[in-house]
Amino acid sequence: MFCDIDETLCLDPDRIEAAITPRTKAVVPVHMCGAMARIDEIKDVCRKKGLILLEDACQSLGATYQGKAVGSFGLAGCFSFDSVKTVTCGEGGGIITDDKAVYEKADQFADHGHDHLGARTGAPTAIPSSGPISGSAN
Ligand SMILES: Cc1ncc(COP(=O)(O)O)c(C=O)c1O
Repeated sequence: MFCDIDETLCLDPDRIEAAITPRTKAVVPVHMCGAMARIDEIKDVCRKKGLILLEDACQSLGATYQGKAVGSFGLAGCFSFDSVKTVTCGEGGGIITDDKAVYEKADQFADHGHDHLGARTGAPTAIPSSGPISGSAN
């Protein structure tokens, strides 16, 4: 469900409850134009309604509220790094979280299910010294 914004240009916490349906699982404020949504009030609604808070923070990267960085108020914060964002790498993005399960799931989504632990990196364990790739005549 979409939900209206307020004078911060971000999600209006006063309008969230009316937008909640039985299928609502999470609230995703987008912090816009270097500003922040009224995050304390949004957190209160999430707590009251048992909803996950996920922040989309690429448009306000570097903003802080009471010394805490944008993107760090909920279960996870996400940052697009596409070509018109504050920080870019052409395409791609990043996720921040202090939840181990979310971290591991995001890590695995980003690389074909590999968990990068021990020998399970997904990379070959040995590089062949001969064959077509190394230019062997065979
Ligand atoms: C606030 C915000 N979130 C997400 C996106 C989408 O990012 P991506 O194209 O990296 O998926 C954009 C792109 O315009 C955006 O402005």
